[in-house]
Amino acid sequence: MKALILAGGKGTRLRPITFSMAKQLVPVANKPVVEYGLEAIVAAGVTEIGIIVGDTAEAIQDTLGDGSRWNCRITYILQLNPLGLAHAVATAREFLGDDDFIMYLGDNLIKSSLGDLIQEFKDLGPAASILLTQVPNPSDFGVALMDGKKVVKLEEKPAQPLSNLALVGVYIFRPIIHDVIERLAPSPRGEYEITEAIQGLIDRGEDVLPHIVTGWWKDTGTVEAMLEANRLILEDLERNILGDVSESKIEGRVRIEKGARVDGCVIRGPVIIAEGCNLQNSYIGPFSSIDKNSVIHGSEIEHSIVLADCKIENVGTRISSSLLGRGSHVKQGEAMPKSLSLVLGDSSQVELP
Ligand code: DAU
Repeated sequence: MKALILAGGKGTRLRPITFSMAKQLVPVANKPVVEYGLEAIVAAGVTEIGIIVGDTAEAIQDTLGDGSRWNCRITYILQLNPLGLAHAVATAREFLGDDDFIMYLGDNLIKSSLGDLIQEFKDLGPAASILLTQVPNPSDFGVALMDGKKVVKLEEKPAQPLSNLALVGVYIFRPIIHDVIERLAPSPRGEYEITEAIQGLIDRGEDVLPHIVTGWWKDTGTVEAMLEANRLILEDLERNILGDVSESKIEGRVRIEKGARVDGCVIRGPVIIAEGCNLQNSYIGPFSSIDKNSVIHGSEIEHSIVLADCKIENVGTRISSSLLGRGSHVKQGEAMPKSLSLVLGDSSQVELP
């Protein structure tokens, strides 16, 4: 079996971060989202991995390399236009050959392992296996209707969902899927939908098996989802203090990497602090990830993701539920009280108390 990770597309819902960064590379607990999927695939024993890349090909290639870090082999496949998930599969046709393959959407995070799913697929031999989970907002996803143990109907982001079972971004296919994709027409939103291709399998009388996800699942496409994914990953963090800590109170599950300096701070876990960070006289509250070389002085932050090379200095208000892009600088201004001085990128969002 091979694997196909989709890391092309455009991250419009994560702007402005995704103006300068692939959405699959935004870190959750200081690790790029796409690496969680890659690791789950390798842990399930699949080591021949194709990665679909688009505009951000170079950054993804620089981050993941040839796969030797995970003992797998990565082949990059360029999709010139993000014309849909089924189009991505068609683009990878040569790489996939006549093998079965597991497809993983590079911006998705799931807690459950993939081993059981792959074993079930091998044992039962359907044309496709799909991961499903119950959601409160099915209209935002692909939705499946089941009859007993079989999937009987699928729709992509329906206005009137048939059920509350959403397609999680993990699928396993037999090569017959390529025959259906060859005959697929674009959907009303102009994309070649994998959801419609799977419906095509059902229409041909092929078996599509559901696999209900029991652990959590996150499509990290929005800032809220990103923060929630960060929270869920940090829930499993183990305490490990490797950096230099002085005159500080470090409570609970806190990981401070080697080469980070923490001075006169209160850190209440779960919190992860990357190498090269410099934290002074600050409070870092639960569910925060501070990425490489960031500086936080005289400030308070919680439930937030701070990307690499940020500077937060003497901010008088606690920063909460925030996502700070690489190299952001937040500081207390000298402007008159009640006036603000801002330099914001396109699509930035600022919420004032
Ligand atoms: O997250 C689960 C949902 O993912 C499913 O419930 C839907 O059925 C499925 O269509 C998909 O919907 P999204 O609208 O969330 O897909 P998105 O455009 O965000 O793309 C998912 C991943 O695939 C993302 O990492 C970008 C990548 N991609 C996307 C397209 C359209 C590509 O590599 N190439 C593409 O052409």
